[in-house]
Amino acid sequence: MVSDWQMVDEGWGRKAVDFATLNEPSNCREYVTLHQQLDVRDGDRLLDIACGAGLALELARARGASCAGIDASPRLVAVARDRVPDGDLHVGDMRALPWADGHFDVVTSFRGIWGTTPEVIAEVHRVLAPGGRLGLTVWGHVKRSPGFWALEPLTLAAPPQVRHQAEMVALGRPGAGEELLEAAGFVDVRRVDITFAWEFADPEHFARALAAVGPAFEAIQAVGEDAFIEHARSVAREHVREGLPLRAEIADVGYLARKPA
Ligand SMILES: C[S@@+](CC[C@H](N)C(=O)[O-])C[C@H]1O[C@@H](n2cnc3c(N)ncnc32)[C@H](O)[C@@H]1O
Repeated sequence: MVSDWQMVDEGWGRKAVDFATLNEPSNCREYVTLHQQLDVRDGDRLLDIACGAGLALELARARGASCAGIDASPRLVAVARDRVPDGDLHVGDMRALPWADGHFDVVTSFRGIWGTTPEVIAEVHRVLAPGGRLGLTVWGHVKRSPGFWALEPLTLAAPPQVRHQAEMVALGRPGAGEELLEAAGFVDVRRVDITFAWEFADPEHFARALAAVGPAFEAIQAVGEDAFIEHARSVAREHVREGLPLRAEIADVGYLARKPA
């Protein structure tokens, strides 16, 4: 039987190269900010959960960390392996991490653990060494964000899938992450605002980049690829600024915590 996580690649992996080159580079602001907050440094054994195409791992590697990652999408993990050849990279389910207890000094996850997957937090706690640091990000109040327009085309998905997206994002609500992490035994839990901005050359590039994310696949299943692309292009046209990139700033929440020593 095929498990639910094995279906993830259908959405996230189908345009892995577009995702890695057109979409993920904009996330670097978030990666750099969280690594800085966690003080990722030489010799840290770091795991990135739902590592996608591995850009965050490549940046952690540049800070001297020895890197491991897991993602459900084989096609994204293939890109991550290309970027971090000495990384310990696995295709798998984040709810069953293939590492021993206490194996890592740092665990990160960038919009990979959501309100719909709270059980992953117990796994994070298990694989962290005593005193280990956790940093994860989730969307904040996206509808109030100046860059909400860039996510709006994803709401073309069927209503149950749009509801599921809302349940995922619920982890960003004030108090939600703090409660989850403290209940799992983490201490020094802190919520921080993270800089997050996507930039694109023009509406055409934006539409192609957005079409590469998993939730876009759900929207494409509902309305078809051509209609999705045309909708995304027309939304973006309203935000074109002469001589500047298209820029979408989106509220992003970081949770920092520590496993007791
Ligand atoms: C929003 S993307 C974030 C990817 C990456 N962290 C980034 O910053 O671009 C969510 C990721 O979660 C992965 N994913 C979804 N369900 C998963 C599961 N059960 N186990 C592992 N990875 C999963 C997807 O393949 C996708 O790469």
